[in-house]
Amino acid sequence: MNGGGSCSLGSVLCVITGASRGLGKSLAWELCSRVMPGSTLLLVARTEKALQVLAEELTLKYPGITATWVAADLGTGDGVRRTVQAAHEMNGQDTAQRVIIVNNAGSLGDINKYFVDFTDPQEVDKYFSFNVSSALCLTSSLLKVFQGRPGLQRLVVNVTSLAALQPFKSWTLYCAGKAAREMMFRVLAEEEKDLRVLSYSPGPLDNDMQEEVRTHTKDPDIRQQFLIMKESGKLIDCHVSARKMLDVIQADTYNSGDHVDFYD
Ligand SMILES: NC(=O)c1ccc[n+]([C@@H]2O[C@H](COP(=O)([O-])OP(=O)(O)OC[C@H]3O[C@@H](n4cnc5c(N)ncnc54)[C@H](OP(=O)(O)O)[C@@H]3O)[C@@H](O)[C@H]2O)c1
Repeated sequence: MNGGGSCSLGSVLCVITGASRGLGKSLAWELCSRVMPGSTLLLVARTEKALQVLAEELTLKYPGITATWVAADLGTGDGVRRTVQAAHEMNGQDTAQRVIIVNNAGSLGDINKYFVDFTDPQEVDKYFSFNVSSALCLTSSLLKVFQGRPGLQRLVVNVTSLAALQPFKSWTLYCAGKAAREMMFRVLAEEEKDLRVLSYSPGPLDNDMQEEVRTHTKDPDIRQQFLIMKESGKLIDCHVSARKMLDVIQADTYNSGDHVDFYD
Protein backbone atom coordinates (compact mmCIF):
# COMPACT_ATOMS: atom_id res chain seq x y z
CA MET A 1 0.00 0.00 0.00
CA ASN A 2 1.24 3.49 -0.64
CA GLY A 3 -0.68 6.29 1.02
CA GLY A 4 1.88 8.90 -0.01
CA GLY A 5 -0.39 11.55 -1.47
CA SER A 6 0.96 15.08 -1.10
CA CYS A 7 0.35 16.71 2.31
CA SER A 8 -1.20 13.48 3.56
CA LEU A 9 0.48 13.74 6.97
CA GLY A 10 -0.82 17.27 7.50
CA SER A 11 1.09 19.96 9.36
CA VAL A 12 3.97 18.29 11.15
CA LEU A 13 6.71 19.11 13.63
CA CYS A 14 9.35 16.39 13.34
CA VAL A 15 12.67 15.57 14.97
CA ILE A 16 14.85 13.00 13.17
CA THR A 17 18.07 11.75 14.77
CA GLY A 18 20.77 10.30 12.54
CA ALA A 19 19.59 12.49 9.64
CA SER A 20 23.01 13.10 8.07
CA ARG A 21 22.94 9.94 5.94
CA GLY A 22 21.33 6.54 5.48
CA LEU A 23 17.75 5.93 6.53
CA GLY A 24 17.40 9.20 8.47
CA LYS A 25 18.33 11.31 5.46
CA SER A 26 15.94 9.40 3.18
CA LEU A 27 13.21 9.77 5.78
CA ALA A 28 13.66 13.56 5.83
CA TRP A 29 13.14 13.65 2.04
CA GLU A 30 10.16 11.31 2.04
CA LEU A 31 8.53 13.14 4.94
CA CYS A 32 8.79 16.51 3.19
CA SER A 33 6.88 15.12 0.22
CA ARG A 34 3.94 14.26 2.49
CA VAL A 35 3.57 17.26 4.82
CA MET A 36 1.85 20.62 4.53
CA PRO A 37 3.65 23.93 4.09
CA GLY A 38 4.37 25.38 7.52
CA SER A 39 5.76 22.07 8.74
CA THR A 40 9.10 22.06 10.57
CA LEU A 41 11.92 19.54 10.72
CA LEU A 42 14.81 19.30 13.16
CA LEU A 43 17.68 17.22 11.78
CA VAL A 44 20.18 15.81 14.29
CA ALA A 45 23.57 14.07 13.85
CA ARG A 46 27.25 14.86 14.47
CA THR A 47 28.24 15.87 10.92
CA GLU A 48 27.20 19.51 10.65
CA LYS A 49 28.08 20.02 6.98
CA ALA A 50 25.90 17.09 5.86
CA LEU A 51 22.96 18.39 7.93
CA GLN A 52 23.38 21.91 6.59
CA VAL A 53 23.48 20.73 2.96
CA LEU A 54 20.44 18.51 3.52
CA ALA A 55 18.48 21.35 5.16
CA GLU A 56 19.33 23.67 2.27
CA GLU A 57 18.35 21.11 -0.38
CA LEU A 58 15.09 20.33 1.37
CA THR A 59 14.06 23.99 1.68
CA LEU A 60 15.00 24.61 -1.95
CA LYS A 61 12.70 21.80 -3.10
CA TYR A 62 10.00 22.45 -0.47
CA PRO A 63 10.04 26.23 0.22
CA GLY A 64 7.08 26.04 2.61
CA ILE A 65 8.94 23.76 5.00
CA THR A 66 11.42 24.93 7.62
CA ALA A 67 14.37 22.57 8.00
CA THR A 68 16.72 23.28 10.87
CA TRP A 69 19.56 21.22 12.26
CA VAL A 70 21.67 20.69 15.32
CA ALA A 71 25.10 19.06 15.18
CA ALA A 72 25.22 17.01 18.36
CA ASP A 73 26.87 13.87 19.64
CA LEU A 74 23.97 11.99 21.21
CA GLY A 75 26.42 9.84 23.11
CA THR A 76 26.92 12.80 25.45
CA GLY A 77 24.64 14.62 27.88
CA ASP A 78 25.61 17.88 26.23
CA GLY A 79 24.49 16.60 22.80
CA VAL A 80 21.11 15.58 24.21
CA ARG A 81 20.70 18.96 25.98
CA ARG A 82 21.53 20.94 22.85
CA THR A 83 19.04 18.91 20.82
CA VAL A 84 16.32 19.58 23.39
CA GLN A 85 17.20 23.29 23.35
CA ALA A 86 16.91 23.37 19.54
CA ALA A 87 13.51 21.67 19.81
CA HIS A 88 12.39 24.36 22.31
CA GLU A 89 13.31 27.02 19.77
CA MET A 90 11.33 25.37 16.96
CA ASN A 91 8.26 24.89 19.13
CA GLY A 92 6.96 28.40 18.45
CA GLN A 93 4.28 27.38 15.93
CA ASP A 94 1.38 25.65 17.61
CA THR A 95 -0.41 25.01 14.34
CA ALA A 96 1.11 21.52 13.98
CA GLN A 97 -1.38 18.66 13.85
CA ARG A 98 1.29 16.05 14.54
CA VAL A 99 4.56 15.83 16.42
CA ILE A 100 6.82 13.01 15.23
CA ILE A 101 9.97 12.08 17.16
CA VAL A 102 12.11 9.61 15.23
CA ASN A 103 14.84 7.86 17.23
CA ASN A 104 16.81 6.69 14.22
CA ALA A 105 20.47 7.35 15.13
CA GLY A 106 22.28 4.17 16.02
CA SER A 107 25.56 2.31 15.73
CA LEU A 108 26.66 -1.31 15.49
CA GLY A 109 29.32 -1.19 18.19
CA ASP A 110 32.39 -3.36 17.76
CA ILE A 111 31.07 -6.30 15.71
CA ASN A 112 34.56 -7.68 15.28
CA LYS A 113 34.28 -9.23 18.75
CA TYR A 114 32.37 -12.09 20.32
CA PHE A 115 30.61 -11.81 23.69
CA VAL A 116 33.69 -13.16 25.51
CA ASP A 117 35.85 -10.34 24.08
CA PHE A 118 33.92 -7.56 25.88
CA THR A 119 35.88 -7.12 29.09
CA ASP A 120 36.05 -3.32 29.25
CA PRO A 121 33.00 -1.86 31.05
CA GLN A 122 33.77 1.61 29.67
CA GLU A 123 33.44 0.43 26.09
CA VAL A 124 30.09 -1.18 26.87
CA ASP A 125 28.84 1.87 28.81
CA LYS A 126 29.77 4.15 25.92
CA TYR A 127 27.77 2.01 23.51
CA PHE A 128 24.67 1.93 25.70
CA SER A 129 24.96 5.60 26.54
CA PHE A 130 24.47 6.54 22.89
CA ASN A 131 22.22 3.71 21.69
CA VAL A 132 19.94 3.31 24.71
CA SER A 133 20.25 6.04 27.35
CA SER A 134 20.17 8.95 24.91
CA ALA A 135 17.08 7.58 23.10
CA LEU A 136 15.27 7.43 26.47
CA CYS A 137 16.39 10.81 27.80
CA LEU A 138 15.96 12.63 24.49
CA THR A 139 12.46 11.23 23.93
CA SER A 140 11.29 12.02 27.46
CA SER A 141 12.69 15.55 27.25
CA LEU A 142 11.13 16.15 23.82
CA LEU A 143 7.76 14.93 25.06
CA LYS A 144 7.98 17.63 27.75
CA VAL A 145 8.79 20.23 25.09
CA PHE A 146 5.94 19.10 22.84
CA GLN A 147 3.20 18.86 25.45
CA GLY A 148 -0.08 17.33 24.39
CA ARG A 149 -3.01 19.61 23.52
CA PRO A 150 -6.44 18.79 22.08
CA GLY A 151 -6.14 17.78 18.42
CA LEU A 152 -2.38 17.21 18.53
CA GLN A 153 -1.22 13.69 17.69
CA ARG A 154 2.15 12.81 19.21
CA LEU A 155 4.04 9.91 17.70
CA VAL A 156 7.32 8.37 18.83
CA VAL A 157 9.20 6.13 16.41
CA ASN A 158 11.99 3.82 17.53
CA VAL A 159 14.03 2.54 14.60
CA THR A 160 14.64 -1.06 15.55
CA SER A 161 15.96 -4.21 13.89
CA LEU A 162 15.41 -7.94 13.60
CA ALA A 163 18.40 -7.98 15.97
CA ALA A 164 16.06 -6.83 18.76
CA LEU A 165 14.27 -10.17 18.49
CA GLN A 166 16.90 -12.57 17.23
CA PRO A 167 20.53 -13.14 18.32
CA PHE A 168 23.23 -12.63 15.69
CA LYS A 169 26.68 -14.00 16.50
CA SER A 170 29.26 -11.21 17.07
CA TRP A 171 26.59 -8.49 17.38
CA THR A 172 26.35 -8.60 21.20
CA LEU A 173 26.04 -4.87 21.78
CA TYR A 174 23.78 -4.21 18.80
CA CYS A 175 21.31 -7.00 19.65
CA ALA A 176 21.23 -6.09 23.34
CA GLY A 177 20.84 -2.36 22.61
CA LYS A 178 17.99 -2.86 20.15
CA ALA A 179 16.21 -5.28 22.51
CA ALA A 180 16.54 -2.81 25.41
CA ARG A 181 15.29 0.11 23.32
CA GLU A 182 12.30 -1.81 22.11
CA MET A 183 11.21 -2.80 25.62
CA MET A 184 11.73 0.79 26.80
CA PHE A 185 9.36 2.06 24.13
CA ARG A 186 6.84 -0.68 24.90
CA VAL A 187 6.77 0.60 28.48
CA LEU A 188 6.22 4.13 27.16
CA ALA A 189 3.28 2.87 25.09
CA GLU A 190 1.74 1.26 28.19
CA GLU A 191 2.21 4.37 30.33
CA GLU A 192 1.16 7.11 27.91
CA LYS A 193 -2.06 6.11 26.23
CA ASP A 194 -2.43 9.41 24.39
CA LEU A 195 0.82 8.73 22.46
CA ARG A 196 1.35 6.53 19.43
CA VAL A 197 4.56 4.50 19.73
CA LEU A 198 6.01 2.51 16.84
CA SER A 199 9.13 0.34 16.69
CA TYR A 200 9.87 0.16 12.97
CA SER A 201 12.38 -2.37 11.64
CA PRO A 202 13.57 -1.09 8.25
CA GLY A 203 14.99 -4.35 6.87
CA PRO A 204 18.55 -4.81 5.57
CA LEU A 205 19.41 -1.48 3.94
CA ASP A 206 21.84 -0.85 1.11
CA ASN A 207 23.98 1.72 2.94
CA ASP A 208 27.06 2.49 5.08
CA MET A 209 25.92 0.40 8.02
CA GLN A 210 25.56 -2.69 5.82
CA GLU A 211 29.01 -2.08 4.38
CA GLU A 212 30.32 -2.18 7.95
CA VAL A 213 28.36 -5.41 8.56
CA ARG A 214 29.91 -7.07 5.50
CA THR A 215 33.46 -5.99 6.27
CA HIS A 216 33.65 -6.10 10.10
CA THR A 217 31.34 -8.89 11.34
CA LYS A 218 33.60 -11.39 13.12
CA ASP A 219 31.37 -14.41 12.66
CA PRO A 220 32.00 -15.87 9.16
CA ASP A 221 28.49 -17.32 8.76
CA ILE A 222 26.75 -14.04 9.53
CA ARG A 223 29.22 -12.10 7.37
CA GLN A 224 28.58 -14.47 4.47
CA GLN A 225 24.81 -14.23 4.92
CA PHE A 226 24.93 -10.44 4.43
CA LEU A 227 27.45 -10.68 1.59
CA ILE A 228 25.05 -12.97 -0.29
CA MET A 229 22.18 -10.54 0.36
CA LYS A 230 24.22 -7.72 -1.19
CA GLU A 231 25.32 -9.81 -4.18
CA SER A 232 21.83 -11.09 -4.89
CA GLY A 233 20.32 -7.58 -4.76
CA LYS A 234 18.26 -8.30 -1.62
CA LEU A 235 19.29 -5.13 0.26
CA ILE A 236 16.61 -2.44 0.46
CA ASP A 237 16.97 1.11 -0.81
CA CYS A 238 16.71 3.57 2.12
CA HIS A 239 14.01 5.62 0.36
CA VAL A 240 11.85 2.53 -0.18
CA SER A 241 12.07 1.62 3.51
CA ALA A 242 11.45 5.23 4.60
CA ARG A 243 8.29 5.32 2.45
CA LYS A 244 7.13 2.09 4.06
CA MET A 245 7.63 3.62 7.52
CA LEU A 246 5.48 6.60 6.55
CA ASP A 247 2.82 4.29 5.06
CA VAL A 248 2.65 2.46 8.41
CA ILE A 249 2.36 5.79 10.26
CA GLN A 250 -0.40 7.00 7.96
CA ALA A 251 -2.37 3.75 7.98
CA ASP A 252 -2.22 3.95 11.80
CA THR A 253 -3.44 0.38 12.30
CA TYR A 254 -0.63 -0.97 14.53
CA ASN A 255 -1.02 -1.29 18.29
CA SER A 256 0.98 1.35 20.14
CA GLY A 257 4.35 -0.18 21.12
CA ASP A 258 4.31 -2.80 18.32
CA HIS A 259 7.36 -3.96 16.37
CA VAL A 260 6.49 -3.56 12.67
CA ASP A 261 8.92 -4.91 10.09
CA PHE A 262 9.48 -3.67 6.52
CA TYR A 263 8.45 -7.14 5.31
CA ASP A 264 5.21 -7.24 7.34
N1 LIG B 1 21.43 -0.47 7.78
C1 LIG B 1 20.66 -1.51 8.06
O1 LIG B 1 20.68 -2.51 7.36
C2 LIG B 1 19.74 -1.45 9.24
C3 LIG B 1 18.90 -2.54 9.49
C4 LIG B 1 18.04 -2.51 10.58
C5 LIG B 1 18.01 -1.38 11.39
N2 LIG B 1 18.83 -0.33 11.12
C6 LIG B 1 18.76 0.84 12.00
O2 LIG B 1 18.41 1.98 11.23
C7 LIG B 1 18.89 3.16 11.88
C8 LIG B 1 19.62 4.02 10.86
O3 LIG B 1 20.75 3.33 10.45
P1 LIG B 1 21.46 3.52 9.04
O4 LIG B 1 21.48 2.19 8.43
O5 LIG B 1 20.89 4.67 8.31
O6 LIG B 1 22.93 3.82 9.59
P2 LIG B 1 24.05 4.82 9.15
O7 LIG B 1 24.04 5.02 7.67
O8 LIG B 1 25.28 4.33 9.81
O9 LIG B 1 23.57 6.19 9.83
C9 LIG B 1 23.63 6.37 11.22
C10 LIG B 1 23.20 7.78 11.57
O10 LIG B 1 23.34 7.98 12.97
C11 LIG B 1 24.16 9.13 13.20
N3 LIG B 1 24.98 8.96 14.40
C12 LIG B 1 25.92 8.00 14.62
N4 LIG B 1 26.49 8.19 15.81
C13 LIG B 1 25.92 9.31 16.35
C14 LIG B 1 26.10 10.02 17.57
N5 LIG B 1 27.00 9.64 18.49
N6 LIG B 1 25.34 11.12 17.79
C15 LIG B 1 24.44 11.53 16.88
N7 LIG B 1 24.21 10.88 15.71
C16 LIG B 1 24.95 9.79 15.46
C17 LIG B 1 25.02 9.24 11.95
O11 LIG B 1 25.44 10.57 11.71
P3 LIG B 1 26.85 11.19 12.11
O12 LIG B 1 27.89 10.17 11.79
O13 LIG B 1 26.89 12.41 11.26
O14 LIG B 1 26.74 11.50 13.55
C18 LIG B 1 24.04 8.83 10.86
O15 LIG B 1 23.26 9.93 10.47
C19 LIG B 1 19.80 2.66 13.02
O16 LIG B 1 19.10 2.74 14.25
C20 LIG B 1 20.07 1.21 12.65
O17 LIG B 1 20.36 0.42 13.78
C21 LIG B 1 19.68 -0.32 10.06
